[in-house]
Amino acid sequence: MGLDLQVLVKHKAVEAEGICSFELVAIGGGPLPPYEPGAHIDVQTPGGLVRQYSLCGDCADGQSYRIAVLREANGRGGSQAMHDRVREGDVLSISPPRNLFALADDEAPILLLAGGIGITPILSMAIDLKRRGKAFQMHYFTRNRSRTAFRDLVGSADWASCAQLHHDDDASSQIDVREVLAAASSLAHVYVCGPAGFIDAVLGHARDMAWPEDRLHREYFAPVAVDTDGDSPFDVVIASTGRVIHIPANQSVLSTLTSAGIDVMASCEQGVCGTCLTRVLDGTPDHRDSYLTPDEQARGDQFTPCCSRARSPRLVLDL
Ligand code: FES
Repeated sequence: MGLDLQVLVKHKAVEAEGICSFELVAIGGGPLPPYEPGAHIDVQTPGGLVRQYSLCGDCADGQSYRIAVLREANGRGGSQAMHDRVREGDVLSISPPRNLFALADDEAPILLLAGGIGITPILSMAIDLKRRGKAFQMHYFTRNRSRTAFRDLVGSADWASCAQLHHDDDASSQIDVREVLAAASSLAHVYVCGPAGFIDAVLGHARDMAWPEDRLHREYFAPVAVDTDGDSPFDVVIASTGRVIHIPANQSVLSTLTSAGIDVMASCEQGVCGTCLTRVLDGTPDHRDSYLTPDEQARGDQFTPCCSRARSPRLVLDL
């Protein structure tokens, strides 16, 4: 998605240890493209890396976007640039919002689970659900109070009674996520966002409890860790032309195709956003993304060429 929207950084604030929020408005004022809870925008960070950030404000606002950024000490520098180099009054290039984590449009109960910076889309959902009079429960897990972004906002919201905060360093606040799931209706939609380990634990427990897969919704912020030691080369066939492209062991499909002059839209290049999703017509993908669901991965008819590879000697791509 193009970064063709220019916005002004109206306000920057420290929300917690290592977490800054940014309020973005249209240059010259006026409305911004609308969004639904769970949506995110792509942001070109100073230095050029493009990163996805969930919109964490009130989607009914219409005039501003709010994002919150966790400083990733071991990242590639996108979040550090947002913290260190973006100031109030700066202009940022962003994409229009898009939503890969939308709330279901039915009457089933809703359970919102946030781990750390995963609060961002969950917060927007809670605000919207309250406004629409829909019942929900929210559990927000963090390491400690000082790393809990939007703690005061959650505590003073008119939906505060629906939210519980749990801190690793406070035994009295802790709860096993299995208890949370057991207390919820097994018909509930579960929305979980946060670090991969947190999401995987929630989904694992829910699946153990035979939760229906279509009621489990998750959004990863970071790529899953993959052992690349055993990577081997393979061929990609471009279905429209029959051209065969050799993918070396140490290069991604995306970068190899780009070098060969074949354009594939991409954004995060980490298997998180789904922008590069490409149909697979033949062959077996080796999925390394955190975007597709396990069922979608098992079908094997699409993959993310920015990070995924092949289990078969060749993949035929619908390009
Ligand atoms: S570019 Fe984001 S998943 Fe491939």
